[in-house]
Amino acid sequence: MLRLAGPIDTLLDRTIAPGYTRLGLAVRRRLPTWPSELPRMEGRTVLITGPTSGIGEAAALDLALLGARVVLLARNVDKAAATRERIAAAVHAADASRTADLAVVRCDVSSLRSVREAVATLEEREPHIDVLIHNAGAMPAERTVTDEGFELAFATNVLGPFLLTALLEPRLKADAPTRVITVSSGGMYGQKLDAEDPQHAHRKYSPAAVYARNKRAQVVLNEQWAQRLAGTGVVVHTMHPGWADTPGVEESLPGFHRVTKRVLRSSAEGADTIVWLAAADGALRDSGGFWHDRSERPTHYGPWTHETPDARRRIWETCAELAGVEVAVPA
Ligand SMILES: NC(=O)c1ccc[n+]([C@@H]2O[C@H](COP(=O)([O-])OP(=O)(O)OC[C@H]3O[C@@H](n4cnc5c(N)ncnc54)[C@H](OP(=O)(O)O)[C@@H]3O)[C@@H](O)[C@H]2O)c1
Repeated sequence: MLRLAGPIDTLLDRTIAPGYTRLGLAVRRRLPTWPSELPRMEGRTVLITGPTSGIGEAAALDLALLGARVVLLARNVDKAAATRERIAAAVHAADASRTADLAVVRCDVSSLRSVREAVATLEEREPHIDVLIHNAGAMPAERTVTDEGFELAFATNVLGPFLLTALLEPRLKADAPTRVITVSSGGMYGQKLDAEDPQHAHRKYSPAAVYARNKRAQVVLNEQWAQRLAGTGVVVHTMHPGWADTPGVEESLPGFHRVTKRVLRSSAEGADTIVWLAAADGALRDSGGFWHDRSERPTHYGPWTHETPDARRRIWETCAELAGVEVAVPA
């Protein structure tokens, strides 16, 4: 069985649909190669964006259940207060002797101003940071421009997270070993990096394609963050959750949601690998990988999505310039 575990897992990955549904996770969890380790997290602080819904809330809950202090970085603080109550109640229900350690910080990741304010608040309030999770994500139905002049999907999925990592870089290094985890999407397999027009100013705006290109950009940028941070004790991971039944999927992809609803993962199942990457010692061994169901996965299924070294450098330089941060592109 052990010798078959690798091929079974790989087959699930390459056939996509079975692997991305709850079936894929259920099978993998039974394989002898499943890395089941999930240590307690008392004394560790996790920052998570987009914790007010779906996968983000499920990850925040599981991290709180493991004993971590969880800082909810949310654009809507009233919604985050309700999330905080739900998580606190669930932690108490699991163990009446425990009180969840939770905080809320306002952070609209599509706004550079808001990201800078959030980091200033974190500097004041959080003496130690162990994990930063970029989970917030959006697939706007139409091309929209933020009040800072950036295309909304790019600002939310790529630019804001880039700035957040850049501003927290000194803290993450000082507090190492630390982890940066980004929630990408299997949708990125279908798209090549677009470093020429990342805000879709000239290309036709198609929500799913724009979202997938943003998710590809996250993978490429995180590979470069991992290079830049090599040897500092900060590891950088990107993951994809498979297909999970969340408010975001139901709203953005109603047709897909209707057809696949019965086989979609729960939000907690979608969050599983985020929690594992945040907690497990196994996630500290390497950096720069792309993960799904607690295993590293390829970032391309064919040669047509490979980007050039020049495109990699350009997307980094574009983000640094637009975000107004001086972070040299890794050699
Ligand atoms: N569900 C899936 O099958 C699936 C598959 C692949 C990848 N993903 C990725 O998983 C992550 C979570 O998605 P989900 O399915 O759980 O979606 P969701 O239910 O829509 O949750 C998205 C979260 O992101 C937050 N958010 C959106 N824009 C934001 C902004 N500008 N600033 C701060 N927070 C913002 C939302 O806040 P509000 O509550 O205020 O709206 C919400 O908390 C996303 O990165 C998504 O791309 C999901």
